[in-house]
Amino acid sequence: MAETLRVALAGLGTVGGGVVKLLDANRDLIARRAGRAIEVVAVSARDRAKNRGVDLSRFRWVDDTWALAAADDVDAVVELIGGADGPALTLARATIGGGRHLVTANKAMLAHHGLTLAVAAEASGVALKFEAAVAGGVPVIKGLREGAAANVLTRVYGILNGTCNFILSEMEASVSAGTGRDFAEVLAEAQARGFAEADPSFDIDGVDAAHKLSILASIAFGTQPAFAAVEAHGIRQILAADIAEAAALGHRIRLIGLAEEGAGGLFQRVHPHLVPLDHPLAHVAGSLNAVVAEGNYVGRLLFQGAGAGAGPTASAVVADLIDIARGEWGPPYAMPAAALTAAAAVDSGARRGRAYLRFTVADRVGVLAEIAAAMRDAGVSIASLIQRGTSADGTVLVAIVTHEGPERSVAAALERLRGSASLAGTPLWMPLLA
Ligand code: NDP
Ligand code: HSE
Repeated sequence: MAETLRVALAGLGTVGGGVVKLLDANRDLIARRAGRAIEVVAVSARDRAKNRGVDLSRFRWVDDTWALAAADDVDAVVELIGGADGPALTLARATIGGGRHLVTANKAMLAHHGLTLAVAAEASGVALKFEAAVAGGVPVIKGLREGAAANVLTRVYGILNGTCNFILSEMEASVSAGTGRDFAEVLAEAQARGFAEADPSFDIDGVDAAHKLSILASIAFGTQPAFAAVEAHGIRQILAADIAEAAALGHRIRLIGLAEEGAGGLFQRVHPHLVPLDHPLAHVAGSLNAVVAEGNYVGRLLFQGAGAGAGPTASAVVADLIDIARGEWGPPYAMPAAALTAAAAVDSGARRGRAYLRFTVADRVGVLAEIAAAMRDAGVSIASLIQRGTSADGTVLVAIVTHEGPERSVAAALERLRGSASLAGTPLWMPLLA
């Protein structure tokens, strides 16, 4: 067997701890599959005294995380600190610059700096691997980068944030059971289970999914990662009543990241969607993630599994280490960084589709007529309209589903209603996934 692959671990939290446990548990099998042993030699985190539930005494502790990048006895550094910049980026640059392989789960860093890191890794002849950065344990990077490499991919979309899917699933269960679980309580459970980001607003405002989408889009379409071009919307505005309306319409609400290449350029957006029950994404529940990719020869591919948590994420990190041990890596984004194109961002207004609109309105004469007039004037055709009973504060919910039409018409209708005294609160718009 060839020489051991010597690994330094930076970050010993949920994922870092999981990596140590996995390498311990499956050591022999991993060595057989990799063709050589994979051993952690050095570790680093902030607090040396913290009990992490694993024996770290056998590894060299390094206080200055960046020093791992220069250690003579390290072949690959695994960055599991997190954050787009700061110590994670310093370490990543130093590791690659120093001619060592880098494995990371840090989608925020990749969304902002992936291209320059890839250029540097290619120049240094080292691996930059990030399977865990998108959909946790689901091998979707490998699936698109390798398995689907022969295809023109037209669209890639999916459920990319386990925390949001967990929250939406719990809300759904509460609606079905006729009980109500507080949003904050469900979020706290996701945090306790190790799914949520250090700043959970990244999860619930769609930023984390946008980070991941920018990585997927780059691999799928051969474009430079363009996080700034991803429109990100989250799930804060979704009410139990929306979930109930969606169910009545034969749909479930899911936060979907969707990237599509067309004549005008690349469209990238994270937004809650109504997903029809006959679509597989409607049945992805809890913290699971799922990605659909449509290829011109392979057809529709579906990748699904645990998108977060210690075990699944460690599984992806160690898979990357096994590739490195085997000598199997190539350009991080499936083609040399110099070959990635800079795609123009497509204006969402031109997109066509059906939409769900929810208004909270004053229960008085003329309100429905006002909404209908705004739709008429903007050229939006209404397919169905439901008004549900009066609440204690005298407001009612109006839920509308439109016929297919351009998004800019719906935006124009909502603009006409902006500031109307009939509306109590901001209307909610969600596309129907087609
Ligand atoms: P945690 O917050 O659990 O762990 C972060 C680790 O980094 C801790 O060990 C912490 O040290 C260490 N750390 C923080 N700041 C510094 C610093 N300045 N110098 C040295 N070490 C530092 O995060 P996770 O394990 O959840 O996530 C790690 C990465 O993996 C992130 O990029 C995240 O987005 C990504 N990821 C996480 C998933 C998950 O399910 N949790 C899934 C997919 C990706 P200490 O423990 O001493 O405080
Ligand atoms: N916070 C992320 C999620 C972790 O909830 O999906 C996995 O990337």
